[in-house]
Amino acid sequence: MGMNRRDLLKYTATLSLASSCSLLLKACGGGGGGSNDDPESTLPIPEIVRSDSANAVTLRLQKGQYPFLDGKPADTFGVNGALLGPAIFLKKGDRLNVRVENGLDEDSVLHWHGLLVDGQYDGGPQSAIGAGGSTTINTVVDQPAATLWYHAHPHGRTGYQTAKGIGGMLIVEDEASQGLGLPSTWGEDDLPIVLQDKYLNDDGQIVYKLNHNTAGLGWFGQHMFVNGVKQPEHYAPRGWVRLRLLNACNARALKLKLGDGSPFYVIASDGGLLPSPVSMTELVMVPAERFEILVDGSAGQAIDLVMARYDEQYGANAAPFDVDYKLLTIHPTRPAKNSMMPPVLTQLPEVVVPAGIRHRRIEFKLMGHFPIDPDPSGPLPEIWPFDFAWNDEDSVFDDHTLMHINQIAVDDEPMASFDLQQASFEVPRHSTERWTLSLRHGDIYPHPFHVHGTQFRVLSINGGAVPAHLQGWKDTVNIQGALNVRSEPGTVDILVRFDHEAAMPHPYMVHCHILEHEDGGMMLGFAVK
Ligand code: C2O
Ligand code: CU
Ligand code: CU
Repeated sequence: MGMNRRDLLKYTATLSLASSCSLLLKACGGGGGGSNDDPESTLPIPEIVRSDSANAVTLRLQKGQYPFLDGKPADTFGVNGALLGPAIFLKKGDRLNVRVENGLDEDSVLHWHGLLVDGQYDGGPQSAIGAGGSTTINTVVDQPAATLWYHAHPHGRTGYQTAKGIGGMLIVEDEASQGLGLPSTWGEDDLPIVLQDKYLNDDGQIVYKLNHNTAGLGWFGQHMFVNGVKQPEHYAPRGWVRLRLLNACNARALKLKLGDGSPFYVIASDGGLLPSPVSMTELVMVPAERFEILVDGSAGQAIDLVMARYDEQYGANAAPFDVDYKLLTIHPTRPAKNSMMPPVLTQLPEVVVPAGIRHRRIEFKLMGHFPIDPDPSGPLPEIWPFDFAWNDEDSVFDDHTLMHINQIAVDDEPMASFDLQQASFEVPRHSTERWTLSLRHGDIYPHPFHVHGTQFRVLSINGGAVPAHLQGWKDTVNIQGALNVRSEPGTVDILVRFDHEAAMPHPYMVHCHILEHEDGGMMLGFAVK
């Protein structure tokens, strides 16, 4: 049909040298070879659109076709294109000024994950717009530079629409971060990295079915994509390269490292820069988390970003992800730029719990009868009893059943499933609260907790210290029992503050970011007034 992947994506191609090189290789039947399923492809770079008071951005949710597997176009959803969407750049102090048009055949809404805006602009499930409808959002951006994202959020359909391709990056810039000398040339040494797995059938179509496994464990795929392509290559300037990593998987946690095991430096978490770079050799990212990392390309040698086997989530270590799996190769061979990694990045307020603040407990519970843990006191099995084949079974849950299989409770209220018409509690505007997030006793599955309308700080994880890379601003944090202590449910304590208003009918959400859990009711609304 004459369109290639790049046209369909509506991504701007990265610079000529890199793309032509790699296209040439592709045309010649691939060079390099190795363990790739596909010949090399170039890392697609989403187009930048700037939203400010003068320029309204139009984002159209639309149906499309996109070949995840060569020659096999899949039916997809995208934003202004066939898959995923542009990177929206916002400047602190300016405005998010967008018109969202719903070109799908069903209700949808875009949520600005991590952006601190009033409930009415937040894009929660109560703000869903019907097929063919549109909405306009115009509100001030007031938070530090950060890598945020947007995705679909209609209740009961978030997992499906995100799997089909509705999502993209939302980047807040500010002068302080721009003055640091960090790599910041978009698509050259400043790279958006959207990581998503997909379950595809032999025809290359996305199969999204809900049954006990997918609803309980989440929707996993046997294919991993980086900005929509498999194992791409990128030619970068010699020197530091900045990766803005986003785990945009529906359910899969990712353990990332470099191919040779060398260190990289985490410079930012969900809500912005860390005080100083944190040297790490392995980084776990749960769904919806973002980290910005710097990798050292000063030697000019190829750097692989690799997904390591991850044994702490059912299903995550099924083949081909039972061994190291290459996600992306960076060739830092182009002329160097003057970027650096400063030892000090920003200053964060000290984390002190003010005396007498409200302490809330939020507890998650995975319902249903999932045959996932035959002996909760025994050691973790080597390979989880898991197989991708279940995805081909028919859906056994209709939307109504699905929406009531997971529950959440606040303080001593009874466990309940999400209710669109209700705010389960109310937080006074401009107040700080301490929240204890935990799993119901016996639930050993990880639940990535997310809250709208704030960036919080983590006080403790399972009663212990918080690793340095989790000490900055966060909007998503994993709750998981300590390994090998499976009888102890996971607990995370956070300090949260709400400065925007979110009154009914547009409350904020608290939910698990395993999208099938969220769609299944592991979510609640709360008001800020
Ligand atoms: Cu990223 Cu309520 O979600
Ligand atoms: Cu959110
Ligand atoms: Cu969950």
